Amino acid sequence: MSKLPRKFFEPLAIGAPQPYREPPVALERMIHFFPPQNEKLRAKIPDMAKQVDVLLGNLEDAIPADAKEAARAGFIEVAKATDFGSTGLWTRVNCLNSPWVLDDITEIVANVGNKLDVMMLPKVEGPWDIHYLDQLLAQLEARHGVTKPIMIHAILETALGVENVTEIAKASPRMHGMSLGPADLAASRGMKTTRVGGGHPFYGVLEDPKGEGVARTLFQQDLWHFTVARMVDACVSNGLKAFYGPFGDFSDNDACEAQFRNAFLLGCAGAWSLHPKQIDIAKKVFSPDAKEVLFAKKILAAMPDGTGAVMIDGKMQDDATWKQAKVIVDLAKIVASKDPDMAAAYEM
Ligand code: GLV
Ligand code: MG
Repeated sequence: MSKLPRKFFEPLAIGAPQPYREPPVALERMIHFFPPQNEKLRAKIPDMAKQVDVLLGNLEDAIPADAKEAARAGFIEVAKATDFGSTGLWTRVNCLNSPWVLDDITEIVANVGNKLDVMMLPKVEGPWDIHYLDQLLAQLEARHGVTKPIMIHAILETALGVENVTEIAKASPRMHGMSLGPADLAASRGMKTTRVGGGHPFYGVLEDPKGEGVARTLFQQDLWHFTVARMVDACVSNGLKAFYGPFGDFSDNDACEAQFRNAFLLGCAGAWSLHPKQIDIAKKVFSPDAKEVLFAKKILAAMPDGTGAVMIDGKMQDDATWKQAKVIVDLAKIVASKDPDMAAAYEM
């Protein structure tokens, strides 16, 4: 049984803001993680806000148990003190069965509910996790006079979560999107890896025998292809955005770029940056390529109403390529509005 559309969009508490029908348009090429308990890093946040699309104060994994409360307090402090401009402010709270999460949610909404754009919820297993947070956020928004709904972003990082991915996407009008969490997902699935995202040298297809004594190549395959594609379908078909999560090998920028690019090509809007050097990798990958944008603009100009068939530079274009071109040009317009160099490259 699911709710009727009219009920679906009703606030879940008297006095809570009206849920969004269309989420706000935002550029989210990278979700940049910071550990809010670190005072030195907090001092850099106003500067960081100018360099990234989204800043996320991390309260969950990678924050030691004895720093959980300091991380929460540090996040509230920096959120209050900083003007984030058009940069998104997110937090990743602890998971729902942890001893910290209730205070994470209640204190953050009470203190900075009007500044927080998105709450990232880890280890989501089904729509029941979203329903719980949805109701609680509505009650807290009503109590604390929050004027716009705080959105929920789920991390897809358990086998059960992947099984329920479509139901999670549909669970609430608060859903912003989802990120693939390859580290927890690998553990949950019993994958035989020790990495945070990326490929594995043993996961591949061995080419056919080429004759006695002739070496055969093992072509490495993408461990995450299936899950990313499944996540993109569940998200996009419900008006949500999909993201690749963390890439843990900071010494291998090329592999990080390849992983981000696969996600971009499959339909993801962005990825996490856990190290400052991943910010530029994400910018490069998740901003559409200038040549592609110029070509896409030609397609749109040649087919003003989006129908018919034309030839451009020897390539056939029709209604379907027009739609692809529009995806690229719409994204390029958002990038250009934030980044003058890219605006010049896109001739916008
Ligand atoms: C992210 O949280 C992951 O587990 O990969
Ligand atoms: Mg995780």
